[in-house]
Amino acid sequence: MSEKTLLVVEDDAQMQKQLGWGLRGFGVLQAANRTDALALARSKEPAVVLLDLGLPPDPGGTSEGFATLKGILSLLPKAKVVILTGQDTRGNALDAIAYGAHDFHDKTVDLDHLAIVLERAFYIGDLEAENERLQTRGLPERMPGLVGDSPAMLQLFRTIDKTAPADVSVVLLGESGTGKEVVARSLHRLSERRKGRFVAINCAAIPAPLLEAELFGHERGAFTGAFKRRTGKIELAHGGILFLDEIGDLPLDLQAKLLRFLQERVVERIGGREEIPVDVRVVCATHRDLEALVKEGAFREDLYYRLCEIALPIPPLRERTGDAILLARHFLTAYGRGLGRRGLRLAPEALAAIDAYAWPGNVRELQNRLKRALIMAEGGRIGPGDLDLAGGEEGGVNLNLRRVREEAEMGALRRALAQSQGNVSKTARLLGVSRPTLYDLLRQHGFRG
Ligand SMILES: Nc1ncnc2c1ncn2[C@@H]1O[C@H](COP(=O)(O)OP(=O)(O)OP(=O)(O)O)[C@@H](O)[C@H]1O
Ligand SMILES: [Mg+2]
Repeated sequence: MSEKTLLVVEDDAQMQKQLGWGLRGFGVLQAANRTDALALARSKEPAVVLLDLGLPPDPGGTSEGFATLKGILSLLPKAKVVILTGQDTRGNALDAIAYGAHDFHDKTVDLDHLAIVLERAFYIGDLEAENERLQTRGLPERMPGLVGDSPAMLQLFRTIDKTAPADVSVVLLGESGTGKEVVARSLHRLSERRKGRFVAINCAAIPAPLLEAELFGHERGAFTGAFKRRTGKIELAHGGILFLDEIGDLPLDLQAKLLRFLQERVVERIGGREEIPVDVRVVCATHRDLEALVKEGAFREDLYYRLCEIALPIPPLRERTGDAILLARHFLTAYGRGLGRRGLRLAPEALAAIDAYAWPGNVRELQNRLKRALIMAEGGRIGPGDLDLAGGEEGGVNLNLRRVREEAEMGALRRALAQSQGNVSKTARLLGVSRPTLYDLLRQHGFRG
């Protein structure tokens, strides 16, 4: 927004005129009732709103003004609403602040003063936006499509970087929802085959009899219902990458057929006689323990070695320190717009709950809970309740933080004491605290003097 858009909601024509003139330094929009005010809030997204609480059909009371305030804040949680108070509504100004209004101003006081109040509201709004921008800017994306900044993910990104250009088969091992498919796509994008296709097939989702036709294709009339010739996924992936998802679920007879393809590099469509040479790189994924399947005899060992030239373990979300919050912010922005809930924020308690939760369903679960919360949240913030996370209540969070701090303190004390061989002055210096403070700390943590 190039100019400072100010929405003035005032029903009194005289007052409207006065305000329009007195505040001409701003980009003023005017509305005289709730409907118009909300329509303008939605379409023009003013950063600051000047709101008269006494609006029709209740010009003498405040009910309509409060309803307008609530409506504006749910559309624009970051807007700064300044309440215009008259004789009969002054007592309600504080209530309005409690509802989320930014400030209030007396109608009878001069316009120059009001302009300063509004100027300041714009300034604070800008500061907040700037602050949020800095906080959520995050680090430059290291791997397109993959959000993450934890040591575990940085390690994975390095491995992807190294693996992608090498024309080897890769198996992605990870719990469900960890991002196996996203990783497969990154490998494709960073590989020499990026100009070729990325063809995915889910071996668990397709019934065994159809799976064979899906993979290898069939000629016309090959079996009942085969009205047309059909190209299989393997053939479609020629020159590109074939992604076999849930490879652990591939039936044994198809395992044999796939192995033959990998050895000969030709496919034969069902009902066909022609051998078609196909050049693909195979990437597969599973949430199952392939080695255990091999031991049980449910997965062919020779196929296992063909497919697993490189195995890439994808860490579960609970092992990616700090990433849950990064991902939550990412999904908030990504889905906020589409769901019409732009500008919604995560309350600090919600962030703490996200950080503390174990995410058994990994990134997919986080994605789903955030989408739900975006839809359900009331007001400008998503609270822990909206995410439906157990242990999100404030008490638990504080307790947690205190314990983290205590443990860190205790660790630092131990290390400093060890380094200074128990010398109190040295220890105090190392820790940057006074001797009396050090004595307090030692006592608190149960060290004996
Ligand atoms: N690191 C990440 N950054 C951003 N989005 C991610 C990340 N990891 C996963 N996602 C998203 O989470 C969802 C689940 O990812 P994906 O489908 O790749 O997981 P999966 O391991 O294949 O899961 P499943 O076992 O359920 O098939 C997708 O919508 C994906 O875009
Ligand atoms: Mg998947």
